[in-house]
Amino acid sequence: MAAFPFEIKAVEGKARTGVLKTPRGDIRTPAFMPVGTAATVKAMTVDQVKATGADIILGNTYHLMLRPSAERVARLGGLHKFMRWDKPILTDSGGFQVMSLSGISKLTEEAVTFSSHVDGSKHVLTPERSIEIQADLLGSDIVMQLDECVAWPAEEARARKGMELSARWARRSKDAFGTRDTQALFGIQQGSTFEALRRESSDRLREIGFDGYAIGGLAVGEGHEAMCEVLDYAPGLLPEDRPRYLMGVGKPIDLVEAVARGVDMFDCVLPTRSGRHGQAWTWDGPINLKNAKYAEDESPLDPDSDCPASRDYSKAYLRHLFKAEEILGQVLLSWHNIAFFQALTAAMRAAIAEGRFERFRREFRARHLSQ
Ligand code: GUN
Repeated sequence: MAAFPFEIKAVEGKARTGVLKTPRGDIRTPAFMPVGTAATVKAMTVDQVKATGADIILGNTYHLMLRPSAERVARLGGLHKFMRWDKPILTDSGGFQVMSLSGISKLTEEAVTFSSHVDGSKHVLTPERSIEIQADLLGSDIVMQLDECVAWPAEEARARKGMELSARWARRSKDAFGTRDTQALFGIQQGSTFEALRRESSDRLREIGFDGYAIGGLAVGEGHEAMCEVLDYAPGLLPEDRPRYLMGVGKPIDLVEAVARGVDMFDCVLPTRSGRHGQAWTWDGPINLKNAKYAEDESPLDPDSDCPASRDYSKAYLRHLFKAEEILGQVLLSWHNIAFFQALTAAMRAAIAEGRFERFRREFRARHLSQ
């Protein structure tokens, strides 16, 4: 029996909408998880994040084990209490961040060894230690297995090596996690752009048995079209009755196309990171508020939104904040972008529930890509 019930409420084509039920609250799918890497969704309070409609946020093993350390978070009552977020938290396992952020890293059958990007100190992460940090010390609700995300492009032999190591680490992660009622463990499918490898990866994960299944190793430079080609088959290789989570994705158009192919959950730094750099995501596509054309534009980003950042401030004011390098500009655009991503997933949920997702997808593409 899986830890968290997953109730699929409606299906249209491959798109699904449902609810993943956890002791800390329901996660409505398709779900977008704002990234709270270092125990903060950057530039936002948890109350703002909650008001956008987010059911769950993501935290990172890698960052938190280095600073303030998993043991310190545990002594302070766990990650939820520490950061004042009482809804579900999913934590990533660390391997991916080690590869992208840390200094020299050594990868063996046993562990990944790396030096901290904070102070250069040396650390070792095994599948078992990642589970201990996530499940026991941080107190995460959804724990991810440690995996190896192979860089793109990859030769098939290299992609196979990463997939096989990830599968063996999936087994070790599951053994370390055991079975729990109040926390879930997700496996991660790897295999780069090779269908046979993703099939084998999925078969090995299914044999172990997880509460949910992630699709890893995408959005690593292959581009939207190549990612969609993998998503034409990858979600269908995973169990239909469990949530499918596409890691590190993506732009609004990526979310819509992935949902159309059977994905239920997403996370990405894009809304907060691009917000801090002056980019706003809207139904009409992305806009750069530093552009001179907004200098005297009195319209808000979205008059129909119930997010104050989207509805109550003019583009002219937001542009001024960025030109003057005022910190409020970063706060407001992060808030607006997270609200937009939540509005987008809410719109997809409603469209699937009402059997009009294909029309929604067509109209979204036409409007969002029109510029
Ligand atoms: N975040 C984005 N992609 C990945 C991946 O392949 N593995 C993990 N663990 N995290 C990710």
